[in-house]
Amino acid sequence: MRLITNIQEMRLFSSDVKKSGKTIVFVPTMGYLHDGHGSLLAKGRELGDILVMSIFVNPIQFGAKEDYAAYPRDLNNDLKMAEANKVDIVFSPTAEDMYPEGFQTYLDVERLSNHLCGLARPGHFRGVATVVIKLFNIIKPDTALFGEKDFQQLLVIKRMVQDLNIGIDVVGMPIIREEDGLAMSSRNSHLNKSERKAALCLFQAIMKGKDMYESGIKDAEPILKEVRNIIEEEPLAVVDYIRVCDINTLEDLEKITDKALLALAVKIGKTRLVDNIVLSNS
Ligand code: PAJ
Repeated sequence: MRLITNIQEMRLFSSDVKKSGKTIVFVPTMGYLHDGHGSLLAKGRELGDILVMSIFVNPIQFGAKEDYAAYPRDLNNDLKMAEANKVDIVFSPTAEDMYPEGFQTYLDVERLSNHLCGLARPGHFRGVATVVIKLFNIIKPDTALFGEKDFQQLLVIKRMVQDLNIGIDVVGMPIIREEDGLAMSSRNSHLNKSERKAALCLFQAIMKGKDMYESGIKDAEPILKEVRNIIEEEPLAVVDYIRVCDINTLEDLEKITDKALLALAVKIGKTRLVDNIVLSNS
C-alpha cells in the first residue's frame, strides 16, 4: 500500500494505471474509518484492479458553525485499516493543495440539494459535489462507491455523474450498523455514554416506521407522527427533520404507492446524526 499526498503524483499514478489497461475503483472518505467504510472497501476490492481510497476532511462542505476543526482524525489508524482492507493507494491531499488561493469554481446539483440535509446545511452538497468531482478528475476512477447512510449524497453524486456525462459507475452500498442498530458514523465518537444510549432512538424510530408501513399504513402522516414521538421521548434528542419522500427526487410524499425513503436527522447533544430506511413492498 502506498500513501500519496501530492495531487500531481496521484494524477501520474492514475494515468499510468489507465495506460496499462487496468481499472481503478475509488472510495472517497473523510477518514476516522469504521466498518461502514470497510464494507465499501471490501466491495471495491472486488470491482476492479486498483483500489484507491481518499482521506480528506473537506473544509468546503462544513458550515461556519459546524464541526470541521473538531471532526475526528486518526491517519495512523486509518492507514492500518486501509492496509487490512487491501487498499492499493491512500490519497490524502492537504486542504491548501485542494483549495489554493484564488479557488472559485463550485458545482451545484440544484434541486436534489434543496431537501433534507441541504436545508439545514446550506452549501453542504455544493461542497460535497465540488470535492468529489475534483477527486474524480485527479483519480480518474472507473467505479466509485458511496454509502446509503448518506442517501442524499449518493443521489447528488449519481445525478452529477449523469448530468455531466462523467462516465463513472457509481455504486450505492447498504448501511452498516452497530450490533444495537445505530448506524456507524465517524461522528459517533463524539457521543458520551448517555448520548450513545440516546442515539439509539434514531434506529428505533425508523424501525417503527418500517413496521407501520409493512402492517399496511401507506399514508406518510401517521408514520411521521409516530416516528417524531419516538425521537421526542428521548430528552437528549432534538429533531432536525423527519421526512417521507420520493427515493429519486426527495420530494415529500403524502401517500406511499411503491417505495419511499424515510429519512431523519437528529441532534444528540451537539452531535448531528442521520439515518434512513427505504420503505418498500418488495
Ligand atoms: P464519510 O462520512 O467519511 O463517508 C465516506 C463514505 O462512507 C460515504 O459514501 C458514506 O456514505 C459511507 N458510509 C459512512 N458510514 C456508513 C455506514 N454506516 N454504512 C455504509 N456506508 C457508510 O461521506 C463523506 O465522508 C464525504 O461527504 C465525502 C463523500 C468523502 C466527500 O467529502
